[in-house]
Amino acid sequence: MVQKRKLSVNLAYVQQQQQEEEGSENPSTPSILTPSKAKYFRRQFSEQNFAIQKKTMVQKRKLSVNLDYVQQQQQQEEEGSENPPTPSILTPSKAKYFRRQFSEQNFDEEITINRIDDEEKEQIKKPLLLLIDGIEKLPYKIADINLAELGRKALSMAEAEMPGVMRLRKIYAPKKPLKGVRLAGCLHVTAQTGVMIETFRALGAEVQWSSCNPLSTQDHIAAALVKAGVPIYAWKGETEEEKLWCIDQTIYFADGQPLNAILDDGCNLVRVIHEKYLHLTSVIHGSSEETTAGITKLRKLFKANKLKIPIINVNECVTKSKFDNNYGCGESLIDGIKRATDVMIGGKVVVIVGYGHVGKGCAKSLSGHGARVIITEIDPICALQAAMDGYEVMTMAEACKIGQIFVSATGSTGLIRGEHIMEMRDMAILCNIGSGQTEIDVVWLKANAIKIENIKPQVDIYHLSNGRAIILPADGRVVNLSCAHGNPSFVMSNSFSNQILAQIELFTKKGQYAIGIHTLPKILDEEVAMAHLDYLGVKLDKLTPTQSAYVDLEPSGPFKPDYYRY
Ligand SMILES: NC(=O)c1ccc[n+]([C@@H]2O[C@H](COP(=O)([O-])OP(=O)(O)OC[C@H]3O[C@@H](n4cnc5c(N)ncnc54)[C@H](O)[C@@H]3O)[C@@H](O)[C@H]2O)c1
Repeated sequence: MVQKRKLSVNLAYVQQQQQEEEGSENPSTPSILTPSKAKYFRRQFSEQNFAIQKKTMVQKRKLSVNLDYVQQQQQQEEEGSENPPTPSILTPSKAKYFRRQFSEQNFDEEITINRIDDEEKEQIKKPLLLLIDGIEKLPYKIADINLAELGRKALSMAEAEMPGVMRLRKIYAPKKPLKGVRLAGCLHVTAQTGVMIETFRALGAEVQWSSCNPLSTQDHIAAALVKAGVPIYAWKGETEEEKLWCIDQTIYFADGQPLNAILDDGCNLVRVIHEKYLHLTSVIHGSSEETTAGITKLRKLFKANKLKIPIINVNECVTKSKFDNNYGCGESLIDGIKRATDVMIGGKVVVIVGYGHVGKGCAKSLSGHGARVIITEIDPICALQAAMDGYEVMTMAEACKIGQIFVSATGSTGLIRGEHIMEMRDMAILCNIGSGQTEIDVVWLKANAIKIENIKPQVDIYHLSNGRAIILPADGRVVNLSCAHGNPSFVMSNSFSNQILAQIELFTKKGQYAIGIHTLPKILDEEVAMAHLDYLGVKLDKLTPTQSAYVDLEPSGPFKPDYYRY
């Protein structure tokens, strides 16, 4: 019912706009527009050369496209297509199909990246305002287009370190399996994401993007992508409100059509869709979620019967969480801490909150630098693992008194709180590499500090009433992406190969995934790993026929059962 009502409102709005356009130069504000927000952004961005200058630029053609779309959706709903199609189970034969798809060698075929032509480029430069479903849409919004050349060089370097993603580009670009996909992404705008975005375009998708974190955008990458024709809405140092505005910009494409696929990190975009654009869920094939924290939120949504689209849990791929979370964070954490504070790691007492995938990688990396590592945990299995890996394990109440560097890595909230902070040593460093901004109680810090001293962008010192001070990088947000460049290209090539495969799955098997949270078949995980071995000069042994019969495994895999934990 909610969906139906919203569609009617939307239909009424579109019709009203069309009528007004036919009779009047100045379309009135639609009933579902949030005028204060629109005006706010109109002011905020009016200094930009592409900013909104003419209210009357709402385009008739685009509104008609949308009208057709909304009517079509309404008709479908009235015909009772509300029920999601029955899911199909991924059988081993289907898995083999994937293996073939992934390993097919089409390297001779020339790759054309779906960059826009000159005419389209001119179009995107125009101060275009598309006013639809309450959104005033800009062609893009980034920090500085002049950084494009720098960004292109960084993208080329990243491509060289992303063998899995580049291989998928080669295999699939000639087939364009994503033609017809209007993909809206909400994930850190980094060089690695840029390589993935350009691969999606090479595979035929239209793509537009915002960032899931206000501090992680690499402005030169955003510029290079815009120059190549990708509508990017992200810049480093967004406010929370601007971040949401950016996400809103990715809901409709420049032709007036809404997104039909989502790639999300932290459930940011899926949440906005479920809160504000529920009427669009019927045209969305699904979303692929990148990270642990996002999956936690999606599970809650599903449990409450509120999830309206299928999700592929990319984080669950072994070649994602056991690699990006572990090895990736292990390297980029150190980079983030050092760029933020220049601190010597060797000899320091470091407290890591959470010994999951991320915590394990961080602990190994920090101890490799000579840090004395302490772990806090709530899960007995992870606590036991930490102890047997040789780390001290204690409660936060104890650890807070002796730690010099703190790293939260849980995906939970309120781990490092006021009562802990007041016990900490002078100039303790508080880092988060987990999720959001609440693993460390930044609200408490801001409310209770007697002085906040900005040292440089993304680094503040909080002076406390007890005479001690605390160093807080990245305002409590993920330190590796906010203070450094995030996880390295090679490891992200694993994660993003899975993302690309997930999007191909969702689009080419429309209707076969039920509303719920799914994983990719293990065989694809193995293929993603395989695609990265050559680059490292790794060679595999092969199962002999005798071994194959003995262990009851196909020589081509999968080599482990689904429940194997690695
Ligand atoms: N910054 C990055 O680049 C990056 C990359 C990957 C994942 N992540 C994020 O890192 C976080 C952790 O991911 P993960 O894959 O390691 O998840 P995980 O579930 O494997 O590990 C989290 C661990 O935290 C522990 N934990 C929960 N509450 C705790 C508490 N109160 N005290 C101590 N320990 C507690 C859990 O028991 C678990 O072992 C997630 O938010 C994820 O989204 C960040």
